[in-house]
Amino acid sequence: MKSPKRYLITSALPYANGPKHIGHLAGAYLPADIYVRYLRAQKRDVVYVCGSDEHGAAITIQALKEGTTPKAIVDKYHAMLESNMHDLGISFDIYHRTSAPIHHETAQEFFTALNEKGDLQLKETEQYYDEEAKTFLADRYIIGTCPICSNENAYGDQCEKCGTSLSPEQLIKPRSTLSGNAPSKKTTTHWYLPLDKHEDFLRKWILEDHKSDWKTNVLGQCKGWLDNGLQPRAVTRDLDWGVAVPLPDATGKVLYVWFDAPIGYISATKQWAKDNNRDWKPYWEDKETKLVHFIGKDNIVFHCIIFPVMLQLHGNILPDNVPSNEFMNLEGDKMSTSRGWSIEMEEYINDFVKKENGGDMMVDALRYYLAAIAPETKDSEFTWKGFQDALNSELVAIFGNFVNRTFVLMHKLCKGKVPPLHESITDELDKKLLADIQQAKKNIEVHIEGYKFRDALFEVIDLARKGNKYMQDKEPWIVAKNIGEDGNPTLEAQQKIDNCLHVCLQLTANLAVLINPFLPFTAKKLCTMMKVVDKMLEWENAGKSTLLSVGYSLRAPELLFRKLEDTEVSEQIEKLKNKSIQLMEATPNNQPSANIETAATEQKKSMIQFDDFAKVDLKTGTIIAAEKVEKADKLLKLEVDLGVEKRTIVSGIALHFEPSAIIGQKVVVVTNLAPRKMRGIESNGMILMAENADGKLQFVAANEATNNGANVS
Ligand code: MF3
Ligand code: ZN
Repeated sequence: MKSPKRYLITSALPYANGPKHIGHLAGAYLPADIYVRYLRAQKRDVVYVCGSDEHGAAITIQALKEGTTPKAIVDKYHAMLESNMHDLGISFDIYHRTSAPIHHETAQEFFTALNEKGDLQLKETEQYYDEEAKTFLADRYIIGTCPICSNENAYGDQCEKCGTSLSPEQLIKPRSTLSGNAPSKKTTTHWYLPLDKHEDFLRKWILEDHKSDWKTNVLGQCKGWLDNGLQPRAVTRDLDWGVAVPLPDATGKVLYVWFDAPIGYISATKQWAKDNNRDWKPYWEDKETKLVHFIGKDNIVFHCIIFPVMLQLHGNILPDNVPSNEFMNLEGDKMSTSRGWSIEMEEYINDFVKKENGGDMMVDALRYYLAAIAPETKDSEFTWKGFQDALNSELVAIFGNFVNRTFVLMHKLCKGKVPPLHESITDELDKKLLADIQQAKKNIEVHIEGYKFRDALFEVIDLARKGNKYMQDKEPWIVAKNIGEDGNPTLEAQQKIDNCLHVCLQLTANLAVLINPFLPFTAKKLCTMMKVVDKMLEWENAGKSTLLSVGYSLRAPELLFRKLEDTEVSEQIEKLKNKSIQLMEATPNNQPSANIETAATEQKKSMIQFDDFAKVDLKTGTIIAAEKVEKADKLLKLEVDLGVEKRTIVSGIALHFEPSAIIGQKVVVVTNLAPRKMRGIESNGMILMAENADGKLQFVAANEATNNGANVS
C-alpha cells in the first residue's frame, strides 16, 4: 500500500473536570504517543493534536460540587492535565482547549454550514424540566434507575455501571440532580442530526470498507448501533455553558458537547498551524491525509458514527482508523476517580516521578507496564505487584542488565572504546544476533502499523533477552582469562572479546532506536551514554550493525531503571484503600470498592509487633458536642473532651446515631492519628467503634468513672 502523504493523529479530548487516571493514559494517550513517535522517527509528516474538553454538564456539575464557576474548574484542570501529559512524555504537537475563541468560531461555522445546507432538523419536543431550579435537565442533570442493570444512579446520557448509552426518557424514576425532585416536562426546540438518513453510508464505510482493518471490538459496537436503528440526535442543549448556537433566536442554547468537542480536533489543528506558520487545511481536507483517532471504548459511537457523519456532510476527510481500547481495571475492580479506586496521573507523578529516586526513569517504567498490559482487545488489569514484576524482572533484569553489562565489560575489556569486528572469526551466534535485530525491526513495524503496541513492545524486550543470552553464551569475562606473557588476554582471546562487545554495542544502539517510541527518556539516556546525537534514533537506523563507529569512546553506563521495592508496593495498595474509604465516607451515594473489605480482612490477619501497637496513642474522652456535617449523610462533627484538651473529630457514624443522643457518651480515641480533612473540616483523631451482632455500631467505651484523658493500654 502507498504510504500516506501526511498523518493527523488525535487522542480523545479529556474533560477538564478533574484529574485523569492512568487507565485514561493507557487507553487514549500512550498508544497514540507511541504511534506518533514512531512516525516521527520515520520522518513522516505528522501532527498530533489534543486538548481539554471544557464544555458540557461534566464541567458545570463539577463546578457545583466544588462550589465554584465552570470557568474556574476548566482553568484548574486544564492546567493540571496539560502538565501531567507533558510530564509523562505525551508529545502532543498542541494541547489546546475548547474554551478558546478559535474553537468557538470553528464549531459555530461548522454548525452553520450544516444548518444552511439543510442537514439539520429543527424539532420541538418535551424535555425534563426542574421547576425549582427553573432549568431543563440535560444529560447528567438527570439521574434515575438504569433500565438495563438497575443501577439507581444512572445518568440521563449513560449508565456508568454497565456502560450503556441512555437517553433521559429511558431512566426509571428520574430525578433532578439539582433539586432532587421528580422532573416535569416542558416543550423546547432543538436542532437534530438525522443519523437515520446516513445509515447506508455508514454501513458501507464501516462494515464493508473497513471490515478488515478496524479492530473487532470497534466493528462490533458499530454494528450493534447500526442494527438497533439509528435515531436523529439532538446537537443542541438548553444550558448556559458551552458554544452558543449561532442563530438569533437561540438564546440560552448551546451546542451539545459531543457536537463541539470533536470539532476541537480541527480547531486545535488550526491553532497549531497558526503557531507554526503552516496550512491546516490539507490535514482535514486532502484525501491523502491519514486521520487516526485514539480513544477509549466509551467513545466509539461518537468517533465512528456521529462525528464521521458530521465530517462527511461538512466535506472533510474521514478517519482511516479508530483504534479504541477496552478498559484497564485496577487491583480487581473498575478504575474510578469518583470512587477513589484509581491511580491519578498527578498522583503517580508526585509519588514516583518527582522523587529523588524517580524522575524520567519512573515515567518510562509506567509507560512500559501500561503498554505491556494495554487493554487492546479486552479489559486488562493494573496491579502494583504486576507493575513491580514488569519493572524488576523485565526492565531491570533484562533490558537494563544487558545494557549495563555491555558498557561495564566494554570499559573493562575494550578500554572504553567500540572494539572492531574481526570478520575472519565471526561465527553463527554473531550472525544470528545481527539477523535477529533486522527481524525484530520488521516485526515491530508490522505490529505498530497494526496498532498492536503490546506485541511491538514484546519484540523489543525479546531482542534484549536475546542479547543477554548471546552474552551468556560468549562469556567474554571467561575468555579474558586466557592471558599471555604480558598479563593481557592473548590476541585470539582479545579478538573474541572484541567481536562479542562490538555486536553487543551495535545491539544496544539498535535497542535505543527500537525502544524510543515506547520509552523516549530511556532512548535519550542511551544516546548520552553512547555519545551520539538524537538523530541516531531515526527509524531507518534500526537494523543496521554499523551505528557505532569502531574506536569511538563511550561514556560510563548510567542507571536506566531502578527496582520497585516491596514496601513501595504495599504503601501504594494501602494508599489506594484509604483513598477509597475516605471518599466513600465523604460521598454517601458512592458504592465502595468491593475490594476494600477483602483488603480489610487481610489486614486483620497480618501480625504486628508490640512496637507497632505502642505507637498508637489511645485515650479516654467524653463527647461534649455533636452535629451533622452538611451534604454528608454519614458524617458527624464531634467535640471530644480529652481532659487536658478538646478535639474536633469527624466520624462516619451519622447513620447510626442522632447527634443529641450521644452527648455525654464516654469514648476511646486514637489521639495521634495524622489530621485529615473531611468536607472541609479537619478531623483530629478517631473514635473506636465496635459492631454488634446485628451490624449496629456501638461505642467502645471506658468505664464511667475513668477520667477524660486517661491512657488506654
Ligand atoms: N471528553 C470526552 C470523554 O472524556 C471525550 C471527547 S473526545 C472528542 O469521554 F472527540 F469529543 F473530543
Ligand atoms: Zn446500567
